[in-house]
Amino acid sequence: MQKTLVILKPSAIQRGLVGEVISRFEKKGLQIVGMKMISLTDEVLEEHYAHLKEKPFFQRIKESMKMSPVIVVALKGIDAVEVVRKMSGTTNGREAQPGTIRGDYSMSVQENIVHASDSPATAEIELERFFSPTELFDYPQLMHVHIYANDEY
Ligand code: TYD
Repeated sequence: MQKTLVILKPSAIQRGLVGEVISRFEKKGLQIVGMKMISLTDEVLEEHYAHLKEKPFFQRIKESMKMSPVIVVALKGIDAVEVVRKMSGTTNGREAQPGTIRGDYSMSVQENIVHASDSPATAEIELERFFSPTELFDYPQLMHVHIYANDEY
């Protein structure tokens, strides 16, 4: 079982898409194992988006991510990282496939509703960045037998 991090960005919060987006992950069969609302700081954003630090648009990304609180969600499932990335769609909402979260709800590269970890290694680092161990929960997924075959996990 893999865990991955999703951030519902200020664009999701302000547009009233929180329930809609979380509902998609729930209906897919991913298990919510952590969730909270937080305010992002420059310090955390500089770590989280370190790969974009030299980009001319870095300042505007930081400002966008601080426009309101965000909701961080930890999701668990087989191949959760890839499944959630696929459900999120490509970065630019205008180019993202219809049926994906960004493809259905975003017209922008920056205001693109969600962040999703891009690899299992990144997911581990990102979950640690936003959740303390006591904020991540291990509990049975009662519908498990209707979500996976027993030789899939
Ligand atoms: P990135 O990690 O490249 O994409 P993704 O979120 O799909 O993993 O970029 C992080 C965020 O930075 C992206 O969601 C939106 C913003 N961004 C821009 O505003 N302009 C850009 O040209 C890029 C590449 C990203």
